[in-house]
Amino acid sequence: MCGIIGCVAEEPVAALLLDGLVRVEYRGYDSAGMATISRGKLGVKKGVGRVKDIEEARKMSAMSGTVGMAHTRWATHGGVTNANAHPHASCKEQVAVIHNGIIENYIPLKKALIAKGHRFKSETDTEVISHIVEDEYKRTKNPLRATQAAVKKLKGQYAIVVMFQDRPDVMTGARKDAPLIVGVGKGKMFLASDVLAFIGHTDRTIFLDNYEVVQITKEEVKIIGPDGREVRRDPNQVAWELSDVTKSDYAHYTLKEINEQPKTIVAASVQDPYKVAEFARAIKRAKSLFITASGTSYHAGLLMKFRLSKEARIRADVVVAGELKEHTEFLGKGSVVVALSQSGETADVMEAVREAKKHGAKAYSIVNAAGSSLARESDVTLLLNCGPEVGVAATKSFTAQVVVANLVVDAVLGKKKPDRLEELSEAVADALKCDGQVQELVREYRDRPDFYFVARGYESPVAMEGALKLKELSYIHAEGMPASELKHGTLALIEKGTPVVFINPSGPNHAESLSNAEELSARGADVIGISDVRDQVYKHYIQIPKVSPKSTPIVEAIPLQLLAYRMSVAKRNDPDYPRNLAKSVTVK
Ligand code: G6P
Repeated sequence: MCGIIGCVAEEPVAALLLDGLVRVEYRGYDSAGMATISRGKLGVKKGVGRVKDIEEARKMSAMSGTVGMAHTRWATHGGVTNANAHPHASCKEQVAVIHNGIIENYIPLKKALIAKGHRFKSETDTEVISHIVEDEYKRTKNPLRATQAAVKKLKGQYAIVVMFQDRPDVMTGARKDAPLIVGVGKGKMFLASDVLAFIGHTDRTIFLDNYEVVQITKEEVKIIGPDGREVRRDPNQVAWELSDVTKSDYAHYTLKEINEQPKTIVAASVQDPYKVAEFARAIKRAKSLFITASGTSYHAGLLMKFRLSKEARIRADVVVAGELKEHTEFLGKGSVVVALSQSGETADVMEAVREAKKHGAKAYSIVNAAGSSLARESDVTLLLNCGPEVGVAATKSFTAQVVVANLVVDAVLGKKKPDRLEELSEAVADALKCDGQVQELVREYRDRPDFYFVARGYESPVAMEGALKLKELSYIHAEGMPASELKHGTLALIEKGTPVVFINPSGPNHAESLSNAEELSARGADVIGISDVRDQVYKHYIQIPKVSPKSTPIVEAIPLQLLAYRMSVAKRNDPDYPRNLAKSVTVK
């Protein structure tokens, strides 16, 4: 989950490392640090908090040296302290390491190192790597070979970058189940966990595979495969649009990304028809079909399943990615797993897909990040094309997933006529006009401890998504559920003034849902209706435009996203960087 960036260049690297660090901060942001080598000496600066708030960060930009590395942390092993922030130097401060992942066997490794006389300064799993590399470097006198030998001892997941005090001309790296990407610039070479870290300097990238070890100088890249042989791989060009990761005139990325949706849903619909057809064919022929994802992407997966069963009469099991390994009895040759993921790096999703493939299944994915592990390991991938999503809470990627999933289901149904995306785009723009009303709701309910989100049928996952957004951004306890479930427990929690967001578009479930809204209202709840038709039972009513049933979740998501965002701002949280969370969860 952590963000990592390293660079070897002709010029001082501190300023560009700091810039890259801010761009990968969405991956984890409880502490940060930087190391450079200057005049033959390794210098390390770190601090606790967001980069902008770290006192030492101001000094980081003034660090000299043409080789350096930087890290933003999302704590796993060891609390959020200065000592546990990366980079971690070895005993003699000759080697420094930054790491993203978890070293599962760090306890026995640490014990063995202590027995050999190594002294530890942190509680992290990462620090063992610097001590092991130090030993291996003493033995091999070769940075690449030392890194190769060190990673052979590690179990777990890692993307690491290593610097050697007496070799300021090189930097090494290695990966297993966590992303590490080489950025090939002019007179500068990067290693980073995300293209965004260096996109301001180069769009030429090499994606490393599991078990590969790499060494960079300012001009050269050398990759060694797991068999010890050199791997030749040409750089790929990634889209320069990625470099437009600014907030523009918006106060936060999250607000910008919510407002981009009239455009991003159109971009998401531009897909290669042959690939969509292949995706659909695989679904139709599948002996067993699983849809898997985490968080918001899971909710998009539930929507996809609903249409597949109801309209196409195809049975699919939707399983939270971290649980798929418990359902392998029905996975085998002829099975298909559809994985949805914004980042394409979520560890649970990757594990699910790898497990499914191990059982003989084919993997089809819907992903935003081109070049991500999921995109590369899937048999067929459809990209969301919604541009980088920086805000930790998924917004535009959710609506883009609904668009792409709908395209696939339409192809399964043999639907030829394309949708009128301009109309949907206008409807989304219309839905965004509810922002003022949402802010009134926030004023009225900002101090309520609980929120409930309910809906029926196809809209139920939207209720779950509304609750998830509110939890993530405002830290208010929220639950989303089918309206039918209310009477089986939740009604006991309804008191006078409890806010219940009721998603209830016109359609077959409308009347039944209104009865549930009446039941809530009779027990004192303040029912907030989100619908294309007003009803007197709603204490507050947010009108959404009428669109086709399959696209209704897209327009319904807008007021829910705005509610979470505005609540977060009212509570003085940082909506882009909610506490304890990270955008790309690359640990299990
Ligand atoms: C994290 C993020 C969520 C996201 C989930 C799945 O928990 O904070 O916003 O929905 O991961 O991420 P993915 O990249 O796989 O869609």
